[in-house]
Amino acid sequence: MTGRQAGNGVFLTFEGIDGSGKSTQARLLAERLRDDGHDVVLTREPGGSTGAEEIRRLVLEGDPDRWSAETEILLFTAARRDHMERTILPALAQGRIVICDRFADSTRMYQGLSRGDLRGLVDTLHDLMIAREPDMTVLIDMDPETGLRRARDRQGSEERFEDFGPELQHRMRAGFLGLATEFAERFRVVDGNRPIESVARDVVAATRALLT
Ligand code: ADP
Ligand code: TYD
Repeated sequence: MTGRQAGNGVFLTFEGIDGSGKSTQARLLAERLRDDGHDVVLTREPGGSTGAEEIRRLVLEGDPDRWSAETEILLFTAARRDHMERTILPALAQGRIVICDRFADSTRMYQGLSRGDLRGLVDTLHDLMIAREPDMTVLIDMDPETGLRRARDRQGSEERFEDFGPELQHRMRAGFLGLATEFAERFRVVDGNRPIESVARDVVAATRALLT
C-alpha cells in the first residue's frame, strides 16, 4: 500500500544510517508543520507505544547476540504492530500527520541484511502483520564515517547496531539507496552532509509538496 490515502492523515517516516540526523530532522519538521497549523504526532521506532518501548529495551540493550536473527525480526515486528495499533493508526484515523523516526525500511535493512539475506522473511511478516507503507519516506543519506562519529559521540546504553562498525554502515547506506530506488514513488533522498538548517529546508520543501 503506497501513496497518500484518501480520507486519512498523512504518514511520514525518516530513514538512514545511525547518526545521519533523522531524529534532529524529524523534530524540526514537526515544529515547522505545527507552525503551519498542522496537528502532528512525532514518534519513533522501535518504540512509540508503551509495549513497543518495552520491546525496545529488549532489542537494543544487552548482549548483541542475545537474539537470533529470526527472533529479532519477530521482536521488531511485534513492536511495530503494537505501535501501529495504539499510536499510528488512531492518529491517522483522526486526520493527523504522523512523523516516525524509522519504520519498516529499517527492518528491511538491519534485520534483512546484517546477518544473512533475510529480506524475504522481513517482507512476508510485514505483509502479514503491518501491511502499510508510509505516504512519504525521507532518506537522510550520509557518509558512514561521519554518521558513526556522530552516533558514538552521543553515547548511552543503546549501541546495538552502531557496535557492528563501519563495514555494516557502508552496506546499510548502499542498501537504503537501493530501497529508495525500489520504492521510488514514496522515497525522497536528502543529502545529510550539510548544516542542519540546509537539510531541514529540503525536508520541509518535500513535505509541503506532498501536502499540497
Ligand atoms: P540519528 O537520529 O539519525 O541517529 P541524530 O539526529 O540523533 O541522528 O543526530 C546525531 C548527532 O549529530 C546529534 O548530536 C545531532 O545534534 C548531530 N547532527 C544532526 N544533524 C547534523 C548535521 N546536519 N550536521 C552536524 N551535526 C548534526
Ligand atoms: P535509533 O534509536 O533510530 O538509532 P539511531 O538514532 O542511532 O539511528 O534506532 C536504534 C537502532 O535500532 C538502530 O541501530 C537501528 C535499529 N533498528 C533495527 O535494527 N531494526 C528496526 O526495525 C528499527 C526500527 C531499528
